[in-house]
Amino acid sequence: MTTSTHTPVLQVIDLSLRYQTRQGEVQAVEGVSFELQQGQSLGLVGESGCGKTSVATSLMRLLPENARLTRGQVRLNGTDLLELDDEEMRSYRWRRIAMVFQAAMNSLDPVHRVGQQIIEAIEAHGMETTVSDARERVARLFRMVGLDPQLMDRYPHEFSGGMRQRAVIAMALSCDPDLIIADEPTTALDVIVQDRILRELKLVQQELRMGMIYISHDIGVVAEVTDRIGVMYAGRLVELGDTADVFRSPMHPYTAALMSSFPSVHGERLPLQGLAGEPPNLIDPPSGCPFHPRCQYADEVCRTEFPERSIHEDHWAACWHPLEVTVTGDGSRDGCG
Ligand SMILES: Nc1ncnc2c1ncn2[C@@H]1O[C@H](COP(=O)(O)OP(=O)(O)OP(=O)(O)O)[C@@H](O)[C@H]1O
Ligand SMILES: [Mg+2]
Repeated sequence: MTTSTHTPVLQVIDLSLRYQTRQGEVQAVEGVSFELQQGQSLGLVGESGCGKTSVATSLMRLLPENARLTRGQVRLNGTDLLELDDEEMRSYRWRRIAMVFQAAMNSLDPVHRVGQQIIEAIEAHGMETTVSDARERVARLFRMVGLDPQLMDRYPHEFSGGMRQRAVIAMALSCDPDLIIADEPTTALDVIVQDRILRELKLVQQELRMGMIYISHDIGVVAEVTDRIGVMYAGRLVELGDTADVFRSPMHPYTAALMSSFPSVHGERLPLQGLAGEPPNLIDPPSGCPFHPRCQYADEVCRTEFPERSIHEDHWAACWHPLEVTVTGDGSRDGCG
């Protein structure tokens, strides 16, 4: 293997984002760093308001007026997107890095045929095609996301919610991006449709060898479709590792609590167990480890200093008192925290 095969498709380094509000500055993303290899998928999980969408919109550079990126780099195949001027960024967005937004199924234009909207997206991003090539491309995209290509000349109101969501995913894939970000792409849909779309999205991602960031508050759903999991709390990435390792042996007490609230993928959601209180206010986050007010293991150091990483191979947690990781006889790992 040459060294170039080890170049990650995405490197996020020390990303920090603030929103200005009348109440004060919201520290929505704080020092987030992670890497994604080509063809790999990463799930970002955490409670509502922990900063998942803010990370995604920072990578896309689609931020509201009141947002300010205060630090960091977003390297897509080595190029720092945060250094590009607006025009250069427009040539990357959608072509190289694409996103399916939260509640995107309602983003199709009601007065245009679905296939035509995708063709326009392809043309708008400078992909040279003839009409028949573009239609063939849309047909291929439709098949890929489980839609009958014969439906491409229908209007959005003739599609069910699940079909609209598939069409939006097809649109995000239309320029063959290196990286796709899916932000809660299926939460508005019923569980069976959600599950089917998730599996298809995973197959497409593997077939196209794209990087994927899959965002959900539901760690069970994320476990089904991702190779790695990143857990966010109060704007920070607090744990990162292979999905199987994080599930078998979470290191951060917050991750363990999050997992216990989603006992199975299709099970009913339980309240966060052993977790009193609410996520912190990001205008005035707690000192030290932001999780300390809700953590049963917290002591003086947790209240005063942000934790150094505890590292176990390529799995780490930002915690002063991580749950123990043990290796079982068959070489797999087991937690005993
Ligand atoms: N435009 C904005 N202006 C001010 N504050 C914002 C803005 N957008 C988000 N925030 C705040 O930034 C923090 C992170 O929000 P974000 O939407 O990134 O979280 P999230 O993890 O995606 O949540 P959810 O699971 O509900 O989608 C929250 O405290 C939120 O209130
Ligand atoms: Mg969000």
